[in-house]
Amino acid sequence: MTDTRPLGGEASARMGFGMSRPGRDPAGAEAAEDAERAAETLPPDARVDLAKERAETGIDEVFSSLDADLVGLAPVKTRIREIAALLLVDRARAQFGLSTSRPNLHMSFTGSPGTGKTTVALRMADMLHRLGYLRRGHLVSVTRDDLVGQYVGHTAPKTKEVLKRAMGGLLFIDEAYYLYRADNERDYGQESIEILLQVMENQREDLVVILAGYKDRMDSFFVSNPGMGSRIAHHIDFPDYTLDELEDIGKLMVAAEGYSFTSEAQETFREYLERRKAQPRFANARSVRNAIERARLRHASRLMVADRPVNKEELITLATEDILGSRVFADHNADHNTETDSR
Ligand SMILES: Nc1ncnc2c1ncn2[C@@H]1O[C@H](COP(=O)(O)OP(=O)(O)O)[C@@H](O)[C@H]1O
Ligand SMILES: [Mg+2]
Repeated sequence: MTDTRPLGGEASARMGFGMSRPGRDPAGAEAAEDAERAAETLPPDARVDLAKERAETGIDEVFSSLDADLVGLAPVKTRIREIAALLLVDRARAQFGLSTSRPNLHMSFTGSPGTGKTTVALRMADMLHRLGYLRRGHLVSVTRDDLVGQYVGHTAPKTKEVLKRAMGGLLFIDEAYYLYRADNERDYGQESIEILLQVMENQREDLVVILAGYKDRMDSFFVSNPGMGSRIAHHIDFPDYTLDELEDIGKLMVAAEGYSFTSEAQETFREYLERRKAQPRFANARSVRNAIERARLRHASRLMVADRPVNKEELITLATEDILGSRVFADHNADHNTETDSR
């Protein structure tokens, strides 16, 4: 997942984000930077072509792949465009010497499992890299277990190691609220939170943190940890998918894997989704992906059991029976009538 493309060049250099200048002594470097900044500052009557700046960053590619790959999520896509606009304007302001410090970019992504938070975070890392706000643009995804140790003295090194890996990119903390245990104020999670807070404040030119998880739990986490809440600049909520959206996500995934549903199977799949949605542990698009994986397994077994030569058509076609084999349709066995979605 590590993205090692070189820095988005000119813009980043102009803004001086974390750019080291090898071979210069610190005092000399500072003076040189001051001189450079002064030389590069545009006169007040200059004009900046925002459309041209935007085209040069290549962020439109990020938007078009977001639109092509992700069904729905209209409010999320709008927020991402707003953030991009804000940063493009911030870059333009910097050219006139108007922006003094880099904007706070820490975010919270709230929503149920499988609503696209991790997927969008990856795109966000790419976008921030292209805009010159992240040096490397990679994503490091962690949970409490990666940050917090079991014994005294283990938490700080673990948290620092994760931060080191994430520098220059985006740190995605899934179910971030597990860092805080209201019933135990001596929990090691607190130590991790304090280190994170410091880095989110002092090294925010080189690291963006996204806290992800359920909305209600995140809200109470911010109430108990106002320091965290106040460092989050953008709260983005990921709504559950509608039945139509889940169906479209299924079609997209099936096509992406080189399969297609018969028209009858398409209807059966919709019925599957309707039932699955009402069951426990439903995980939105992740459940769709898992269902398709299982349909592929049944399809493969069916072809093997048939024990005869198969043609291309048969190899790509998922039929109704490949979906009906799911426990979701086994009404008579209520105890086992739930699909499990491993995360
Ligand atoms: N809107 C969407 N359109 C298509 N696929 C999606 C969409 N949202 C999520 N997915 C897919 O569903 C799976 C789970 O998404 P993920 O981003 O891991 O969700 P979360 O992090 O919210 O639990 C991934 O395989 C992802 O590609
Ligand atoms: Mg996730």
